[in-house]
Amino acid sequence: MRGALALLVALLLTGCTHQEKPLTQKERERAASIGQMAVKRLMGELKTNLGTALKEGGFPKAIEFCAGKAEELTAKVNKELVVVRVKRVSDKYRNPKNRPDKLDLAVIKEFKEKLKEGKLPPYEIKRIKLNGKEYLVYYKPILVAPFCLNCHGEPTRMNPEVLRVIKEKYPQDRALGYRAGQLRGVFKVLIPEEEVKGG
Ligand code: HEC
Repeated sequence: MRGALALLVALLLTGCTHQEKPLTQKERERAASIGQMAVKRLMGELKTNLGTALKEGGFPKAIEFCAGKAEELTAKVNKELVVVRVKRVSDKYRNPKNRPDKLDLAVIKEFKEKLKEGKLPPYEIKRIKLNGKEYLVYYKPILVAPFCLNCHGEPTRMNPEVLRVIKEKYPQDRALGYRAGQLRGVFKVLIPEEEVKGG
């Protein structure tokens, strides 16, 4: 019964506000492949840079580095992608630029429920209209690995220097207190509809 109700609410949420037409199989496949490509680029860029900073000076150095660099790297990847936009979004965001909109929040909620049931999908695709233009949005869940807890874990178990930098750079930080296996947020890829159409 509760499942049915949740499903109804989910349908109303996505049905009324966002998904006017159902996605065709071809649209799904193309959006998934473009989305995966964009996520891979951003993830690769972030990982390489985090890895280098870690090697140079452990987590205190990495957090200093990350704090200035993540936004810049995201901008760089977007410039290369030209028509597609990729970013990270979280309901408990550290950088206010990664604040979710209504649809992001609905998808995050959906992912959290599915994760609880052990049925987390690898991605989700939604159709939206922005300023009169149609887009498909590719969402990929981001899970917390034990490694992430160095900067997103229980404050009492974290390096005080790391915590100090977080407090200083992100006075409104919400991204602490996670446990491994939880949903940290999503990658979000905005794809203009014409990119997945035709042929
Ligand atoms: C060295 C510290 C550090 C580690 C390790 C780390 N993060 Fe972060 N994380 C940060 C910082 C700093 C930000 C804010 C970046 C910015 O300004 O955009 C951030 C932001 C994020 C965001 C974007 C949303 C938000 O809150 O602004 C996600 C998602 C995220 N981290 C997930 C992870 C995951 C998953 C891992 C493990 C694989 C991880 N992080 C490991 C420091 C870290």
